[in-house]
Amino acid sequence: MDLYLEILELGKKILGAQDLEFSARHLAETISSSFHVDFLGVFGVAKDGNVSLLYAHGLRDEDTLFNISLLSIWEEIAAKVVEKKTFIVTKANNDSPLVQSLDKNLEVAGIPLISSKGVKGVVAVLIEEENVDWSKVVPLIQAIAISFTGELVNSELYSQLENLFLSTILALASAVDAKHPYTRGHSERVTRYSVAIAKEMGLVRQEIKDLQISALLHDVGKIGIRESVLDKNGKLTQEEYDEIKQHPLIGAEIVSKIVNCERIVPGILEHHERYDGKGYPYGKKGDEISLFGRIIAVADTFDAMTSTRTYRKALPFQVAVEEIVYNAGYQFDPKVVKYFVEVYEKEKDIWQRENIIFSVR
Ligand SMILES: [Fe+2]
Repeated sequence: MDLYLEILELGKKILGAQDLEFSARHLAETISSSFHVDFLGVFGVAKDGNVSLLYAHGLRDEDTLFNISLLSIWEEIAAKVVEKKTFIVTKANNDSPLVQSLDKNLEVAGIPLISSKGVKGVVAVLIEEENVDWSKVVPLIQAIAISFTGELVNSELYSQLENLFLSTILALASAVDAKHPYTRGHSERVTRYSVAIAKEMGLVRQEIKDLQISALLHDVGKIGIRESVLDKNGKLTQEEYDEIKQHPLIGAEIVSKIVNCERIVPGILEHHERYDGKGYPYGKKGDEISLFGRIIAVADTFDAMTSTRTYRKALPFQVAVEEIVYNAGYQFDPKVVKYFVEVYEKEKDIWQRENIIFSVR
């Protein structure tokens, strides 16, 4: 676990959360400032060999037919390059709307960006010139693209690491839920609801990824609470309740020891805080509570109400939503509740279906 997290953090640092589309644009600009290039498309190659356009140079505003024609010429040659694993140059199809509108004989070239692991990208180039000396152009483009090719390799490694990391976290969260039959699937559902709220609020991708981990691990501190207390059927004594109230602190401590997770810890630590300051462990109120804490609080309560527990049956979804709305401004941040209700209206059928699947499996 330690190792995965550390590798992931290291990967992030090395890659500096690289944006491939930004790098592809930089590559296209460098190439087109070095040669006369009329049209240039930069593609990434997925593991299954499918190509995806990362940046296009030469598209025309409001000329859809022209653009579609250009994209299909590029895609066709990029797919061929991946298949043949080599540089390819062909005459562009004279029937294509692009060639007809330019009224010239055009050559289209596909240049593979090759690493030791195979073709990782393709640069597709069209030049409105005859007799281009491709033997000079191709090696130069490949040389300019060396660091970009490295980025393509890194991004693939990085997404593999990220998947590995997420499945490890998921296993840990499921282990906590699985200890108690009535909480099975709880962390996954809380994560689903939290992410849905965050997307509705317009949080950026990285924030959503952090929230996902925070929500998956929100109850991980229950590992440190006695099972006789967690599973108790009757009313808890004050002492037992005080023990349960420790789980956000224990969870935050576990996660912060694993690695430097400062963006993930607040959601774990503060998911039982209340907007009116009457929650635990600190009694923080309003915006003193982290946004992750305020989001997970809504998602957690919604799932707790709509799942069957030892002491009561599940409430219907609509009743649970009304209860959350009723508590906006008291238990919950009204802004988060507003987005929760909006996304609930869109997703309720799917949520309802999956809730049933979860509870019978
Ligand atoms: Fe909790």
